[in-house]
Amino acid sequence: MVTEFVPVQELSKSLKAVPKNYIAPEDKVPVVTREPGKSVPVVDLCDFNLSPEQHERVVREIASASSEWGFFQVINHGIDVTKPQKVSREFFELPKEEKLKYAAKEYGFKSDGYGSKISNAADAVQLWRDYFFLCTSPKRNLDSWPAQPLQYREVMSGLSDDFLMLTRKILGFLSEGVGLPTDYFEKCFGVPNQSILTNYYPGCPEPDKVLGIEPHSDFGGLTLLLQDGVPGLQVLQNNTWVVVEPIPGAITINISDLLELMSNGRYQSVIHRVKVNASRPRMSIASNYSCLFDSTVAPAPELIDEDHPQLYKPVKFGDYVQEVVKKGPTGKAYMFINHDSKPEYMLLPKH
Ligand code: OGA
Ligand code: NI
Repeated sequence: MVTEFVPVQELSKSLKAVPKNYIAPEDKVPVVTREPGKSVPVVDLCDFNLSPEQHERVVREIASASSEWGFFQVINHGIDVTKPQKVSREFFELPKEEKLKYAAKEYGFKSDGYGSKISNAADAVQLWRDYFFLCTSPKRNLDSWPAQPLQYREVMSGLSDDFLMLTRKILGFLSEGVGLPTDYFEKCFGVPNQSILTNYYPGCPEPDKVLGIEPHSDFGGLTLLLQDGVPGLQVLQNNTWVVVEPIPGAITINISDLLELMSNGRYQSVIHRVKVNASRPRMSIASNYSCLFDSTVAPAPELIDEDHPQLYKPVKFGDYVQEVVKKGPTGKAYMFINHDSKPEYMLLPKH
């Protein structure tokens, strides 16, 4: 059960210094912002009016971004992103008492609701972030979603539908990108397990001492993300943090762990983190798409051959998530195949 929590948004109103339990371990990795040739690729989807040549270009660009960066942004995707951002921001601007009516009942994104801490461990470093978590597929429990602002439920439900459709299309491009039939990865996932997490990162008196989200890879299949105009998201590339520049209206997409596994490593689930700002709050809306917890996923047999040995063992998604929750989001330890901390089920059997 979640006990009382103090939203970071409330803390940030009065504090001049960051409380000890929010101070993140120091990170020695340098940050790069706008170095030429160093930004996350942007793919123009042309509102899906794609000639055969353009279709081929999109497949090529998405496949190469997903293998080299694990991240890309799409523009002209046909989705209205302003309404979901507006209702979400309006929710976070409500009085604390109104928001706390929706306090999440459990830690670790198991149920719909408003929260801040993701674990109650005494030694856990707290994140400079509040969130609202929505389970959106296979089932939506709209009664537990905010009733204020009035349009919230309808707009966020619509965003879930729009994201399901876009995800299907992106999975199609990703399947074709490794020479598989268009519906291949969609079929591997089966019934969509989708959630929407709105992250709210208040301004911070000492922004360099805290993290909005610590370095992690996403444990689902594919993540779609709306950024507002404020930078904060950084992706690890060649041992450097690269800022994902917010492009108005764009959707940021990243390969998550299950797709790395299904694609036998052709696509990469890359480590990223979130920094916060001194005065400007930042909000993002992240939607995760994966399979149901009792489904087992495996590398596509078509992607295993002499040149591409099998890198991962099949895994039941629920077991994988439990492992992540138990150990906390420590980078990408569960996916590294040559890593001591990898759990047993990710190892190849010894011959
Ligand atoms: C996440 C995440 C990035 C952001 O929610 O997993 O990485 O910009 N969010 O908020
Ligand atoms: Ni993430």
